[in-house]
Amino acid sequence: QQADRGHYRHFMQKEIHEQPEVIGRTLSRYVDVPNGQPVLPVGCNFADMDRLIIVACGTAAFAGRVAEYWFERYAGLPVKVDVASEFRYRKNAFMKGDAALFISQSGETADTLEAMRLCKAAGLKTLALVNVEHSTIAREADIVLPTLAGPEIGVASTKAFICQLVALAAMSVGAGIDRGKLDEANAAQLISELNAAPRHVADTLALQAEIEDIAHNISRGSMVIYIGRNAYFPLALEGALKLKEISYMFAEGYAGGELKHGPIALIDEDVSVIALVPDDEMLEKNRSSIRQVASRGAHVIVVADPGSAPKLSNEAEVLITAPATGTILTLLAQTVVVQLIAYHVALIKGTDVDQPRNLAKSVTVE
Ligand code: G6P
Repeated sequence: QQADRGHYRHFMQKEIHEQPEVIGRTLSRYVDVPNGQPVLPVGCNFADMDRLIIVACGTAAFAGRVAEYWFERYAGLPVKVDVASEFRYRKNAFMKGDAALFISQSGETADTLEAMRLCKAAGLKTLALVNVEHSTIAREADIVLPTLAGPEIGVASTKAFICQLVALAAMSVGAGIDRGKLDEANAAQLISELNAAPRHVADTLALQAEIEDIAHNISRGSMVIYIGRNAYFPLALEGALKLKEISYMFAEGYAGGELKHGPIALIDEDVSVIALVPDDEMLEKNRSSIRQVASRGAHVIVVADPGSAPKLSNEAEVLITAPATGTILTLLAQTVVVQLIAYHVALIKGTDVDQPRNLAKSVTVE
Protein backbone atom coordinates (compact mmCIF):
# COMPACT_ATOMS: atom_id res chain seq x y z
CA GLN A 1 0.00 0.00 0.00
CA GLN A 2 2.93 2.28 0.72
CA ALA A 3 3.96 2.15 -2.94
CA ASP A 4 0.47 2.84 -4.25
CA ARG A 5 0.27 6.03 -2.27
CA GLY A 6 3.19 7.40 -4.24
CA HIS A 7 4.52 10.52 -2.59
CA TYR A 8 1.21 11.24 -0.90
CA ARG A 9 0.67 10.85 2.81
CA HIS A 10 -2.78 9.34 2.45
CA PHE A 11 -4.83 7.62 -0.23
CA MET A 12 -7.49 10.26 0.27
CA GLN A 13 -4.98 13.00 -0.54
CA LYS A 14 -3.81 11.09 -3.61
CA GLU A 15 -7.38 10.54 -4.74
CA ILE A 16 -8.24 14.23 -4.31
CA HIS A 17 -5.26 15.06 -6.54
CA GLU A 18 -6.24 12.50 -9.16
CA GLN A 19 -9.51 14.30 -9.76
CA PRO A 20 -8.53 16.39 -12.80
CA GLU A 21 -7.42 13.24 -14.58
CA VAL A 22 -10.35 11.00 -13.66
CA ILE A 23 -12.87 13.72 -14.45
CA GLY A 24 -11.36 13.90 -17.94
CA ARG A 25 -11.51 10.14 -18.30
CA THR A 26 -15.12 9.95 -17.15
CA LEU A 27 -16.16 12.83 -19.38
CA SER A 28 -14.77 11.07 -22.42
CA ARG A 29 -17.58 8.52 -21.97
CA TYR A 30 -20.34 11.13 -21.77
CA VAL A 31 -19.21 13.91 -24.09
CA ASP A 32 -18.12 13.76 -27.69
CA VAL A 33 -15.45 16.44 -27.40
CA PRO A 34 -14.94 17.25 -31.13
CA ASN A 35 -18.58 18.26 -31.64
CA GLY A 36 -19.31 19.23 -28.04
CA GLN A 37 -22.35 16.97 -27.74
CA PRO A 38 -23.29 14.85 -24.76
CA VAL A 39 -23.30 11.14 -25.55
CA LEU A 40 -25.85 9.04 -23.72
CA PRO A 41 -25.19 5.32 -23.39
CA VAL A 42 -27.31 3.06 -25.59
CA GLY A 43 -30.79 2.51 -24.16
CA CYS A 44 -30.54 5.58 -21.94
CA ASN A 45 -33.60 7.37 -23.22
CA PHE A 46 -34.68 10.36 -21.15
CA ALA A 47 -37.23 11.58 -23.69
CA ASP A 48 -39.66 8.79 -22.81
CA MET A 49 -39.24 9.09 -19.07
CA ASP A 50 -41.91 10.70 -16.93
CA ARG A 51 -39.93 10.50 -13.72
CA LEU A 52 -36.45 9.48 -12.67
CA ILE A 53 -36.08 7.86 -9.27
CA ILE A 54 -32.52 8.09 -7.94
CA VAL A 55 -31.49 5.77 -5.11
CA ALA A 56 -28.12 5.46 -3.35
CA CYS A 57 -26.39 5.58 0.05
CA GLY A 58 -24.02 8.03 1.70
CA THR A 59 -21.98 10.25 -0.56
CA ALA A 60 -23.46 8.67 -3.69
CA ALA A 61 -26.92 9.72 -2.50
CA PHE A 62 -25.70 13.32 -2.23
CA ALA A 63 -24.50 13.12 -5.85
CA GLY A 64 -28.08 12.09 -6.64
CA ARG A 65 -29.47 15.07 -4.76
CA VAL A 66 -27.23 17.47 -6.69
CA ALA A 67 -28.37 15.80 -9.92
CA GLU A 68 -32.00 16.28 -8.92
CA TYR A 69 -31.50 20.04 -9.31
CA TRP A 70 -29.72 19.57 -12.64
CA PHE A 71 -32.28 17.20 -14.21
CA GLU A 72 -35.11 19.51 -13.17
CA ARG A 73 -33.34 22.65 -14.34
CA TYR A 74 -31.85 21.48 -17.62
CA ALA A 75 -34.25 18.74 -18.66
CA GLY A 76 -37.55 19.54 -16.90
CA LEU A 77 -37.48 15.94 -15.72
CA PRO A 78 -39.26 15.18 -12.43
CA VAL A 79 -36.86 13.46 -10.04
CA LYS A 80 -37.31 11.73 -6.72
CA VAL A 81 -34.21 10.93 -4.68
CA ASP A 82 -34.11 8.57 -1.74
CA VAL A 83 -31.57 6.77 0.38
CA ALA A 84 -31.68 3.06 -0.37
CA SER A 85 -32.27 2.00 3.24
CA GLU A 86 -35.56 3.95 3.27
CA PHE A 87 -36.56 3.33 -0.32
CA ARG A 88 -36.42 -0.44 -0.08
CA TYR A 89 -38.81 -0.58 2.88
CA ARG A 90 -41.37 2.06 2.01
CA LYS A 91 -44.53 1.39 0.07
CA ASN A 92 -43.34 3.02 -3.13
CA ALA A 93 -46.03 4.47 -5.36
CA PHE A 94 -44.52 3.78 -8.78
CA MET A 95 -45.98 5.35 -11.86
CA LYS A 96 -46.02 4.42 -15.52
CA GLY A 97 -43.00 6.13 -17.10
CA ASP A 98 -40.79 5.78 -14.01
CA ALA A 99 -37.17 4.73 -14.46
CA ALA A 100 -34.72 4.20 -11.64
CA LEU A 101 -31.07 5.19 -11.38
CA PHE A 102 -28.79 3.66 -8.74
CA ILE A 103 -25.51 5.34 -7.86
CA SER A 104 -22.74 3.36 -6.20
CA GLN A 105 -18.98 3.58 -6.19
CA SER A 106 -18.48 -0.06 -5.20
CA GLY A 107 -21.54 -1.50 -6.89
CA GLU A 108 -21.92 -3.76 -3.86
CA THR A 109 -23.78 -1.70 -1.24
CA ALA A 110 -26.43 -4.05 0.14
CA ASP A 111 -29.28 -1.55 0.47
CA THR A 112 -28.68 -0.06 -3.00
CA LEU A 113 -28.55 -3.51 -4.58
CA GLU A 114 -31.78 -4.62 -2.91
CA ALA A 115 -33.47 -1.36 -3.89
CA MET A 116 -32.48 -2.06 -7.49
CA ARG A 117 -33.80 -5.61 -7.37
CA LEU A 118 -37.07 -4.29 -6.01
CA CYS A 119 -37.39 -1.84 -8.92
CA LYS A 120 -36.58 -4.54 -11.45
CA ALA A 121 -39.22 -6.78 -9.95
CA ALA A 122 -41.69 -3.90 -10.21
CA GLY A 123 -40.92 -3.66 -13.95
CA LEU A 124 -38.94 -0.40 -13.91
CA LYS A 125 -36.01 0.15 -16.23
CA THR A 126 -32.87 0.20 -14.06
CA LEU A 127 -29.80 2.31 -14.72
CA ALA A 128 -26.67 2.03 -12.59
CA LEU A 129 -23.92 4.62 -12.26
CA VAL A 130 -21.05 2.56 -10.86
CA ASN A 131 -17.32 2.83 -10.49
CA VAL A 132 -16.55 -0.89 -10.22
CA GLU A 133 -17.26 -2.40 -13.59
CA HIS A 134 -17.59 -6.02 -12.53
CA SER A 135 -19.74 -5.39 -9.48
CA THR A 136 -23.07 -6.99 -8.67
CA ILE A 137 -25.04 -3.80 -9.28
CA ALA A 138 -23.35 -3.35 -12.68
CA ARG A 139 -24.11 -6.97 -13.57
CA GLU A 140 -27.78 -6.82 -12.68
CA ALA A 141 -28.71 -3.36 -14.00
CA ASP A 142 -30.43 -2.96 -17.36
CA ILE A 143 -28.07 -0.15 -18.33
CA VAL A 144 -24.61 0.45 -16.88
CA LEU A 145 -23.28 3.98 -16.72
CA PRO A 146 -19.62 3.92 -15.73
CA THR A 147 -17.59 6.38 -13.73
CA LEU A 148 -13.91 5.98 -14.52
CA ALA A 149 -12.41 7.11 -11.21
CA GLY A 150 -10.22 4.01 -10.89
CA PRO A 151 -9.90 2.16 -7.57
CA GLU A 152 -10.82 4.31 -4.59
CA ILE A 153 -9.10 3.21 -1.38
CA GLY A 154 -9.82 6.02 1.07
CA VAL A 155 -13.02 5.18 2.94
CA ALA A 156 -14.34 8.71 2.47
CA SER A 157 -15.32 9.01 -1.18
CA THR A 158 -13.77 11.89 -3.15
CA LYS A 159 -12.80 11.13 -6.74
CA ALA A 160 -15.71 8.73 -7.23
CA PHE A 161 -18.12 11.44 -6.04
CA ILE A 162 -16.80 14.06 -8.42
CA CYS A 163 -16.93 11.58 -11.31
CA GLN A 164 -20.54 10.79 -10.39
CA LEU A 165 -21.30 14.52 -10.53
CA VAL A 166 -19.61 14.93 -13.91
CA ALA A 167 -21.45 11.96 -15.44
CA LEU A 168 -24.77 13.15 -14.00
CA ALA A 169 -24.20 16.69 -15.27
CA ALA A 170 -23.49 15.43 -18.79
CA MET A 171 -26.55 13.17 -18.62
CA SER A 172 -28.79 16.00 -17.47
CA VAL A 173 -27.62 18.10 -20.43
CA GLY A 174 -28.20 15.13 -22.76
CA ALA A 175 -31.64 14.70 -21.21
CA GLY A 176 -32.33 18.41 -21.74
CA ILE A 177 -31.56 18.09 -25.45
CA ASP A 178 -33.60 14.88 -25.80
CA ARG A 179 -36.57 16.42 -24.07
CA GLY A 180 -36.36 19.66 -26.05
CA LYS A 181 -35.68 21.75 -22.94
CA LEU A 182 -32.19 23.00 -23.75
CA ASP A 183 -31.38 24.87 -26.91
CA GLU A 184 -28.10 24.31 -28.72
CA ALA A 185 -26.39 27.40 -27.31
CA ASN A 186 -27.23 26.58 -23.69
CA ALA A 187 -26.25 22.96 -24.10
CA ALA A 188 -22.96 23.98 -25.71
CA GLN A 189 -22.24 26.37 -22.84
CA LEU A 190 -22.80 23.65 -20.23
CA ILE A 191 -20.71 21.14 -22.14
CA SER A 192 -17.88 23.64 -22.46
CA GLU A 193 -18.04 24.09 -18.67
CA LEU A 194 -17.68 20.35 -18.28
CA ASN A 195 -14.78 20.18 -20.69
CA ALA A 196 -13.04 22.90 -18.67
CA ALA A 197 -13.58 21.02 -15.39
CA PRO A 198 -10.23 19.17 -15.23
CA ARG A 199 -8.34 22.46 -15.53
CA HIS A 200 -10.46 24.32 -12.97
CA VAL A 201 -10.37 21.44 -10.51
CA ALA A 202 -6.58 21.40 -10.85
CA ASP A 203 -6.51 25.15 -10.17
CA THR A 204 -8.66 24.64 -7.08
CA LEU A 205 -6.08 22.22 -5.68
CA ALA A 206 -3.70 25.17 -5.53
CA LEU A 207 -5.81 26.65 -2.70
CA GLN A 208 -4.36 24.07 -0.36
CA ALA A 209 -2.17 26.40 1.75
CA GLU A 210 -5.06 28.82 2.26
CA ILE A 211 -7.38 25.98 3.27
CA GLU A 212 -4.81 24.60 5.71
CA ASP A 213 -4.85 27.94 7.55
CA ILE A 214 -8.63 27.95 7.72
CA ALA A 215 -8.63 24.35 8.95
CA HIS A 216 -6.74 25.44 12.09
CA ASN A 217 -9.52 27.84 13.03
CA ILE A 218 -12.23 25.34 12.22
CA SER A 219 -10.61 22.60 14.28
CA ARG A 220 -10.61 24.81 17.39
CA GLY A 221 -14.40 25.23 17.31
CA SER A 222 -17.10 22.94 18.68
CA MET A 223 -18.92 22.25 15.43
CA VAL A 224 -19.33 23.20 11.81
CA ILE A 225 -22.47 24.09 9.94
CA TYR A 226 -22.39 24.07 6.14
CA ILE A 227 -25.06 26.03 4.31
CA GLY A 228 -25.98 26.23 0.66
CA ARG A 229 -28.99 26.76 -1.55
CA ASN A 230 -30.07 25.07 -4.71
CA ALA A 231 -27.58 22.36 -5.79
CA TYR A 232 -25.21 23.72 -3.13
CA PHE A 233 -27.54 22.44 -0.42
CA PRO A 234 -26.66 18.79 -1.12
CA LEU A 235 -23.04 19.87 -1.49
CA ALA A 236 -23.34 21.36 2.03
CA LEU A 237 -24.61 17.96 3.20
CA GLU A 238 -21.63 16.27 1.54
CA GLY A 239 -19.17 18.79 3.03
CA ALA A 240 -20.54 18.07 6.51
CA LEU A 241 -20.47 14.32 5.95
CA LYS A 242 -16.86 14.41 4.75
CA LEU A 243 -15.81 16.37 7.82
CA LYS A 244 -17.67 14.09 10.24
CA GLU A 245 -16.33 10.94 8.61
CA ILE A 246 -12.66 11.73 8.80
CA SER A 247 -12.18 14.37 11.52
CA TYR A 248 -14.99 13.24 13.90
CA MET A 249 -15.99 16.88 14.33
CA PHE A 250 -19.69 17.43 14.64
CA ALA A 251 -20.95 18.95 11.41
CA GLU A 252 -24.30 19.40 9.71
CA GLY A 253 -25.41 20.71 6.35
CA TYR A 254 -28.51 22.83 5.96
CA ALA A 255 -30.39 24.60 3.23
CA GLY A 256 -29.59 28.27 3.90
CA GLY A 257 -33.27 29.12 4.25
CA GLU A 258 -33.72 26.52 6.99
CA LEU A 259 -31.33 28.20 9.43
CA LYS A 260 -34.12 30.13 11.06
CA HIS A 261 -36.13 26.94 11.58
CA GLY A 262 -33.82 25.53 14.21
CA PRO A 263 -30.09 25.41 13.53
CA ILE A 264 -29.62 29.11 14.29
CA ALA A 265 -30.21 28.22 17.95
CA LEU A 266 -26.85 26.43 17.88
CA ILE A 267 -24.87 29.47 16.77
CA ASP A 268 -22.29 31.02 19.06
CA GLU A 269 -18.60 31.97 18.93
CA ASP A 270 -17.53 28.32 18.95
CA VAL A 271 -19.33 27.47 15.72
CA SER A 272 -17.89 27.78 12.22
CA VAL A 273 -20.36 28.31 9.41
CA ILE A 274 -19.16 27.45 5.94
CA ALA A 275 -21.38 29.09 3.31
CA LEU A 276 -21.16 27.78 -0.25
CA VAL A 277 -22.07 30.77 -2.40
CA PRO A 278 -21.73 30.92 -6.17
CA ASP A 279 -22.58 34.03 -8.16
CA ASP A 280 -26.15 33.01 -8.95
CA GLU A 281 -29.73 34.12 -8.42
CA MET A 282 -29.58 33.08 -4.75
CA LEU A 283 -26.69 35.38 -3.83
CA GLU A 284 -28.77 37.92 -1.90
CA LYS A 285 -30.55 35.16 0.00
CA ASN A 286 -27.16 33.70 0.88
CA ARG A 287 -25.94 37.11 2.00
CA SER A 288 -28.83 37.35 4.41
CA SER A 289 -28.09 33.87 5.85
CA ILE A 290 -24.44 34.87 6.34
CA ARG A 291 -25.50 38.02 8.20
CA GLN A 292 -27.85 36.04 10.43
CA VAL A 293 -25.07 33.76 11.64
CA ALA A 294 -22.30 36.39 11.70
CA SER A 295 -24.36 38.68 13.92
CA ARG A 296 -24.68 35.83 16.42
CA GLY A 297 -20.94 35.37 16.67
CA ALA A 298 -20.28 32.49 14.25
CA HIS A 299 -16.92 32.24 12.58
CA VAL A 300 -18.03 32.59 8.93
CA ILE A 301 -16.13 31.13 6.01
CA VAL A 302 -17.54 31.92 2.60
CA VAL A 303 -16.62 29.63 -0.27
CA ALA A 304 -17.19 31.88 -3.27
CA ASP A 305 -16.41 32.02 -6.98
CA PRO A 306 -14.78 34.88 -8.91
CA GLY A 307 -18.21 36.48 -9.43
CA SER A 308 -19.55 36.25 -5.88
CA ALA A 309 -16.25 36.96 -4.07
CA PRO A 310 -16.17 40.75 -4.60
CA LYS A 311 -19.84 40.99 -3.68
CA LEU A 312 -19.28 39.21 -0.38
CA SER A 313 -15.88 40.44 0.69
CA ASN A 314 -17.40 42.58 3.46
CA GLU A 315 -19.52 39.79 4.86
CA ALA A 316 -17.03 37.06 5.60
CA GLU A 317 -14.30 36.67 8.13
CA VAL A 318 -12.62 34.38 5.62
CA LEU A 319 -13.30 34.15 1.90
CA ILE A 320 -12.06 31.32 -0.28
CA THR A 321 -12.51 31.82 -3.99
CA ALA A 322 -12.84 28.62 -5.98
CA PRO A 323 -11.40 29.57 -9.37
CA ALA A 324 -14.31 28.64 -11.63
CA THR A 325 -17.52 30.21 -12.88
CA GLY A 326 -20.66 28.63 -14.27
CA THR A 327 -23.46 26.66 -12.67
CA ILE A 328 -21.84 23.25 -13.01
CA LEU A 329 -18.20 24.24 -12.92
CA THR A 330 -18.38 26.25 -9.69
CA LEU A 331 -20.05 23.35 -7.94
CA LEU A 332 -17.27 20.99 -9.03
CA ALA A 333 -14.59 23.42 -7.83
CA GLN A 334 -16.38 23.92 -4.50
CA THR A 335 -16.55 20.14 -4.11
CA VAL A 336 -12.76 20.12 -4.03
CA VAL A 337 -12.76 22.91 -1.43
CA VAL A 338 -15.01 20.97 0.96
CA GLN A 339 -12.88 17.84 0.49
CA LEU A 340 -9.71 19.77 1.30
CA ILE A 341 -11.28 21.39 4.36
CA ALA A 342 -12.21 17.94 5.72
CA TYR A 343 -8.78 16.53 4.91
CA HIS A 344 -6.85 19.33 6.60
CA VAL A 345 -9.04 19.40 9.70
CA ALA A 346 -8.54 15.63 10.02
CA LEU A 347 -4.77 16.07 9.72
CA ILE A 348 -4.84 18.60 12.55
CA LYS A 349 -7.01 16.30 14.66
CA GLY A 350 -4.63 13.41 13.95
CA THR A 351 -7.29 10.89 12.94
CA ASP A 352 -6.85 7.90 10.67
CA VAL A 353 -7.81 9.65 7.44
CA ASP A 354 -7.98 6.62 5.15
CA GLN A 355 -9.67 4.29 7.60
CA PRO A 356 -11.80 6.28 10.01
CA ARG A 357 -13.11 4.45 13.03
CA ASN A 358 -16.37 2.50 12.68
CA LEU A 359 -16.62 3.02 8.91
CA ALA A 360 -16.27 0.60 6.02
CA LYS A 361 -15.51 1.39 2.40
CA SER A 362 -18.33 -0.74 1.21
CA VAL A 363 -21.32 -1.76 3.31
CA THR A 364 -22.28 -5.15 1.92
CA VAL A 365 -24.46 -6.24 4.81
CA GLU A 366 -27.44 -4.43 6.18
C1 G6P B 1 -19.97 3.67 2.73
C2 G6P B 1 -18.76 4.51 2.39
C3 G6P B 1 -19.19 5.85 1.76
C4 G6P B 1 -20.09 5.59 0.56
C5 G6P B 1 -21.27 4.67 0.90
C6 G6P B 1 -21.97 4.20 -0.36
O1 G6P B 1 -20.67 4.27 3.75
O2 G6P B 1 -17.99 4.76 3.55
O3 G6P B 1 -18.07 6.60 1.36
O4 G6P B 1 -20.57 6.80 0.05
O5 G6P B 1 -20.83 3.50 1.58
O6 G6P B 1 -21.10 3.36 -1.06
P1 G6P B 1 -21.21 3.04 -2.58
O7 G6P B 1 -20.08 2.08 -2.85
O8 G6P B 1 -22.55 2.39 -2.80
O9 G6P B 1 -21.08 4.31 -3.32
